[in-house]
Amino acid sequence: MKVLVTGGAGFIGSAVVRHAIAQGHSVVNLDVLTYAACLTNVASVAGSPAYAFEQVDIRDRAELDRVFAAHQPDAVMHLAAESHVDRSIDGPGDFIETNITGTYHLLEAARAYWLACDRFEGFRFHHISTDEVFGTLGDTGQFTESTPYDPRSPYSASKAASDHLVRAWSETYGLPVVMTNCSNNYGPFHFPEKLVPVVILRALAGEPIPVYGEGLNVRDWLYVEDHADALLTVLEKGELGRSYNIGGENEARNIDLVKMICEILDVKRPQETPYADLITYVADRPGHDLRYAIDPTRIATELGWRPSVTLEQGLEKTVQWYLDNEDWWRPLQNRAGVGTRLGTG
Ligand SMILES: NC(=O)c1ccc[n+]([C@@H]2O[C@H](COP(=O)([O-])OP(=O)(O)OC[C@H]3O[C@@H](n4cnc5c(N)ncnc54)[C@H](O)[C@@H]3O)[C@@H](O)[C@H]2O)c1
Repeated sequence: MKVLVTGGAGFIGSAVVRHAIAQGHSVVNLDVLTYAACLTNVASVAGSPAYAFEQVDIRDRAELDRVFAAHQPDAVMHLAAESHVDRSIDGPGDFIETNITGTYHLLEAARAYWLACDRFEGFRFHHISTDEVFGTLGDTGQFTESTPYDPRSPYSASKAASDHLVRAWSETYGLPVVMTNCSNNYGPFHFPEKLVPVVILRALAGEPIPVYGEGLNVRDWLYVEDHADALLTVLEKGELGRSYNIGGENEARNIDLVKMICEILDVKRPQETPYADLITYVADRPGHDLRYAIDPTRIATELGWRPSVTLEQGLEKTVQWYLDNEDWWRPLQNRAGVGTRLGTG
């Protein structure tokens, strides 16, 4: 299958690109290369005849039409987005333009291509979204695919809008879509502004490790390689028009996650004092959702997919990857906004 992956130079998109090629698919990686992109993420497959790259903005309809006509993909996996909640608080405009308007242009380009190809059997538009569209949970309960949408940040609101557009293009125009909403990812190639790499890199630098509020926010952590595997499973086996929640079966409070990372570093890179001594509580994010948790029943029972690693195993691999790949993360720390507190409202 030839898959057009949008956002394939980002964190999750690059894992999808690597997995798809490893599974024998061809990939066209379409990415405009924002501050969050890094082509090194796909360097291991960039020389493959099954790989092509197009530096294109999903808001540029003419360029999207050119890419569809030139590459004739069998499927689209749409991951391109502005993805950092803190940046969405400081500058929501980019999130509206890329996540909503960009998704609209991509849907229209995909629909025009599909119609021009006589609505060919087997075409799929896979929209990748987040569990943040469901809002926040209390101490109990889990998000299912029928949980009402209740987004609370500019980021999650823009993703919710894009989900609604994709459903509308399925219902109204019959575009063959599948959708996924997943929990927080972590793993190799995670851009150094997100929580897990921030903790690892601050600890290694001997700098304060910031924890928002009291660190009591709960997330359901999903190893990025497992997510990529789940996405390809949904692309191949998912039922048209259906959405699937993807979780890691690994709920943890932020403070416990941070302490786990510190303990792994205590073993791998021992110092005189425990890394956890660097933990520093800072002002909370405005509108910080308390808890996200995924009910993974649908993807498990209908598609037979489950995560392959526990949080402990995934974090161990992730910390080791950052220890082994300073050449990757060091230059990214100079990019705009990285290392400074964003999104204080
Ligand atoms: N990171 C998570 O924990 C998580 C969880 C659930 C869902 N998601 C969703 O998964 C997708 C990928 O997330 P990520 O963490 O890999 O994001 P990321 O920020 O690491 O990567 C996003 C990529 O999209 C590209 N991009 C941004 N705007 C673009 C535009 N206008 N045109 C073309 N390309 C553009 C960027 O250059 C970048 O390579 C997003 O849709 C996000 O909402 C992420």
